[in-house]
Amino acid sequence: MRCRASAARTATSAPSLQGVAGRYNAAQLRQWVFDARVLHPDTQMPPFGTLAGIVQPIEPKPILTPAQIDDVAAALATLGAR
Ligand code: HEM
Repeated sequence: MRCRASAARTATSAPSLQGVAGRYNAAQLRQWVFDARVLHPDTQMPPFGTLAGIVQPIEPKPILTPAQIDDVAAALATLGAR
């Protein structure tokens, strides 16, 4: 799964995830992974939990299962501010 490791945000890379647990609650973290478009309509981040609005999915199912989404959201919840 490609997320990102960079500390810097640039025009071509997504922001660091360090500290996200301090910026969002559990439901919001899950929403970022499930479908970031709900939070940022113009986001470049792909939806991992739904195919809604995807015209030609590579596979005919979401990238992650609900249980996998929960696991990723739980991992994000450990990324508190230092
Ligand atoms: C499992 C993999 C991923 C996880 C867990 C993840 C999680 C997140 C979270 C929690 C945020 C909010 C950060 C904040 O506001 O501080 C975020 C933002 C963002 N993500 Fe991801 N992400 C993933 C993959 C990706 C991928 C593959 C891309 C692009 C190809 C991407 C692009 C972005 C961008 C551009 C933002 C900035 C906000 C926006 O422009 O909408 N992410 N991501």
